[in-house]
Amino acid sequence: MSDEETDSWSAALIIFLILISGVLLVSGDSLSTDRDVLLQLKSFLEDNNKVNRGRYSEWNIGSSNTSAYPCNWAGITCSHTNGTEARVTGIKISDSYIAGEIFGNFSSLTELTHLDLSRNTLGGVIHSDLGRCQNLVHLNLSHNILSGELMNLTGLSNLEKLDLSVNRFSGEVRMSIPVSCDNLIVMNISANNFTGTINGSFFDGCSKLQYLDLNLNKLTGELWNGFARLLDFSVSENQLSGHVLSSMFIDNCSLHFLDLSENGFVGEFPREISKCRNLVILNLSDNNFTGQIPAELGSILSLEALYLGSNKFSRKIPDSLLNLTKLTFLDLSKNNFQGNIQENLGKFIQVKFLLLHGNSFTGGIISSGILKLPNILRLDLSQNYFSSPLPVEISPVSSLNFLILAYNQFSGAIPPEFGNLSSLQALDLSFNNLTGSIPPTLGKLSSLLWLMLANNSLTGEIPPELGNCTSLLWLNLANNQLSGKIPLELTKIGSNPTPTFESNKRESERIIAGSGECLAMKRWIPADFTPFSFVYALLTRKSCRSLWDRLLQGNGLFQICAPGSSVQTLQISGYVQLSGNCLSGEIPEDIGKMQNFSMLHLGINELYGKLPPQIGQMPLVVLNVSRNKLSGEIPTKIGDITCLLTLDLSFNNFSGTFPASLGKLTNLNKFNISYNPFISGTIPSTGQLATLEKESYLGDPFLQLPDFMNNHTAMSPERKDGRPKRPTKLAGILVFLAIILAFLIYIWMIGCGQTARWNSSGGACRGVLLRISG
Ligand SMILES: *[C@@H]1O[C@H](CO)[C@@H](O)[C@H](O)[C@H]1NC(C)=O
Ligand SMILES: *[C@@H]1O[C@H](CO)[C@@H](O)[C@H](O)[C@H]1NC(C)=O
Ligand SMILES: *[C@@H]1O[C@H](CO)[C@@H](O)[C@H](O)[C@H]1NC(C)=O
Ligand SMILES: *[C@@H]1O[C@H](CO)[C@@H](O)[C@H](O)[C@H]1NC(C)=O
Ligand SMILES: *[C@@H]1O[C@H](CO)[C@@H](O)[C@H](O)[C@H]1NC(C)=O
Ligand SMILES: *[C@@H]1O[C@H](CO)[C@@H](O)[C@H](O)[C@H]1NC(C)=O
Ligand SMILES: *[C@@H]1O[C@H](CO)[C@@H](O)[C@H](O)[C@H]1NC(C)=O
Ligand SMILES: *[C@@H]1O[C@H](CO)[C@@H](O)[C@H](O)[C@H]1NC(C)=O
Ligand SMILES: *[C@@H]1O[C@H](CO)[C@@H](O)[C@H](O)[C@H]1NC(C)=O
Repeated sequence: MSDEETDSWSAALIIFLILISGVLLVSGDSLSTDRDVLLQLKSFLEDNNKVNRGRYSEWNIGSSNTSAYPCNWAGITCSHTNGTEARVTGIKISDSYIAGEIFGNFSSLTELTHLDLSRNTLGGVIHSDLGRCQNLVHLNLSHNILSGELMNLTGLSNLEKLDLSVNRFSGEVRMSIPVSCDNLIVMNISANNFTGTINGSFFDGCSKLQYLDLNLNKLTGELWNGFARLLDFSVSENQLSGHVLSSMFIDNCSLHFLDLSENGFVGEFPREISKCRNLVILNLSDNNFTGQIPAELGSILSLEALYLGSNKFSRKIPDSLLNLTKLTFLDLSKNNFQGNIQENLGKFIQVKFLLLHGNSFTGGIISSGILKLPNILRLDLSQNYFSSPLPVEISPVSSLNFLILAYNQFSGAIPPEFGNLSSLQALDLSFNNLTGSIPPTLGKLSSLLWLMLANNSLTGEIPPELGNCTSLLWLNLANNQLSGKIPLELTKIGSNPTPTFESNKRESERIIAGSGECLAMKRWIPADFTPFSFVYALLTRKSCRSLWDRLLQGNGLFQICAPGSSVQTLQISGYVQLSGNCLSGEIPEDIGKMQNFSMLHLGINELYGKLPPQIGQMPLVVLNVSRNKLSGEIPTKIGDITCLLTLDLSFNNFSGTFPASLGKLTNLNKFNISYNPFISGTIPSTGQLATLEKESYLGDPFLQLPDFMNNHTAMSPERKDGRPKRPTKLAGILVFLAIILAFLIYIWMIGCGQTARWNSSGGACRGVLLRISG
């Protein structure tokens, strides 16, 4: 090359470099622009979030060079290629209490590949800026409250992982798939409001797709026929319909996980499922599948969990399934199986969870051999038509943790042998026709957390031995005919459940949202009592499963507080429900030692004597002693139970002065002192008690209510327009009539209140006497 040539080449090179750097400057591609954008982001977030802030608020704090270097900031990652300048490639500000809209200048971070804004409360729609982040590989916006349609993301052709789960996105699902999705591996849009069909070829172009989660949307139409090449496909809780076709199961089906539950699929389930040789979990529950359970399932040796509940499969269980040595979870609930339990179920020695609830079985518990299954942990036979006596043939070395026999017609006595089932954590025999008394041997069940015997016809006394059940936190003996005293020893139940919880934490089973938990939870958590009622509203299949897990591991469900303290903690807390029996005698003073209990329901019994002041030492949320014969003063100490929400003292014979201390119960929202004809005193016109309805104080003639409660009707016109009305002549007459009427009601209540009281509190037990004598 000549010098001239070299010169001109150099000149060209220089010009070229200038041009390039000019372009770079224009588009602002450098770490320092990245830094500027991050500082814009920080101030944007700080403007939107004045109080709680995540670690982004620490960015650029401090005077050293290192604290000014963006690659050192919390949640920021940078590229570190040798020689070239580092650039910001990742932002992770999940779980950082961020509210407001999504920041609108992410696209100025031209090397951004990873963006994680999950678990915040970001709202609004996704604007076009995010769609210009061409290099994004991972985008996680899950667990926010974002809404609108997703058109703007369809240009992101480099995406490998897209997680939009648990938001409020809507629109047609096919419009939210990236137009070019060659690189997409994970797509999770579960728990949104997506609509439309998936049976087109929209996902076919996503050739690398392995995980597709469409659960909990509003998808309609038929199933996408390409799903069998994925590893993980779930579309549960949608409105899909039609048949699952045999052609959908290609020879090289690679599914590990297939969840089609809670849709409207019909017809037979194709035997070609056996081509999915690596399938681990198959969930077909809550559909309308009919015909045989495919025998070919028996060749999928990897299968661990099979959910067939809530369908219309015919009753033959193929023997081939016995080959599945890893099968631990078998759900055959709600298929309207009749007659005896299938004979071969007793041969599934590998099974740990056997769910047969909600069928129409009438027998075969013993002949099928299911009680001898060596590995069984949970056996659910509830909601069938078994009418025999309870079976005693359960092996005493049984591993059984949960024995659920509720809602049948089992009769006779509870076998004392049940006390030998030493691993039992829940024994649910409620809603049957059981008679006789509660066997004292149940006191040997030291791991028992739930003892549910409600709504039977059990008689006799509560055995003091139950006090040895140191894990027992949820005791429901309501609606029986138990009599005698509440044994002193009963106050020792649930005093140390920790060993049971600890062992559950060690052995928590890896099984996805199951079956039957909700039915059990709804029996085990009383719906009509706050604070359980708020939990109730959240009960879905998945939340039941997670509630169940939480309870079993000793995690609390709601806030409780120690008496006298307003510090609320989320702590495990139990209940004692003895209502609707014929228990008599006094409530033991030791009840104050029951520190793990927050609901005490003793209503409709014959308890007498004073309410022990020690009750004020319990961390109670609900106390219901209505319809008993309790007398004497209401203990002032009840005013210490700071977190009390419900207090029902109605239909008793409390006397003396109404304790002013109850005014301290600022959380109280259900209160009833009605029909205690000897109670006297004054309800203060300010504080919590004054906010309650007049119906809290019916039939208490000596109790003085604040004026506004008595004159409620006369007051209301004033309240409506906010200023007092001058009484007209008509209003005067009305007030006069109202006073007369109130007086008449008052007289009537004094007379009638007592008769009503004695009639109702004696009702249940009088029934028993009749039954016994008759
Ligand atoms: C985005 O950031 C760049 C670089 O700091 C800046 O020039 C631009 O004005 C910003 N755009 C918006 C809309 O804030
Ligand atoms: C998205 O974030 C959530 C919560 O931070 C996390 O559990 C989930 O695994 C992430 N998704 C992906 C696909 O990584
Ligand atoms: C999708 O997201 C939900 C909720 O965040 C999560 O529970 C589920 O495991 C995810 N699915 C996949 C396949 O990762
Ligand atoms: C599955 O087999 C079909 C042909 O039968 C083939 O086209 C496809 O690439 C295979 N898929 C995988 C994931 O191996
Ligand atoms: C199953 O079919 C019945 C009528 O045959 C219908 O009432 C029911 O809703 C269907 N169940 C599901 C889950 O689609
Ligand atoms: C439980 O027993 C009570 C009292 O006998 C009765 O009122 C109630 O209806 C029963 N509940 C059910 C579901 O049978
Ligand atoms: C208290 O128990 C009685 C009898 O079971 C019931 O009728 C009443 O509704 C309960 N009170 C409250 C406030 O829940
Ligand atoms: C109810 O209490 C009053 C006042 O203490 C007492 O005189 C009366 O005998 C009691 N009634 C019953 C039935 O116990
Ligand atoms: C208190 O109990 C009585 C009798 O059961 C009932 O009529 C009244 O409505 C109850 N009051 C409240 C506030 O629930």
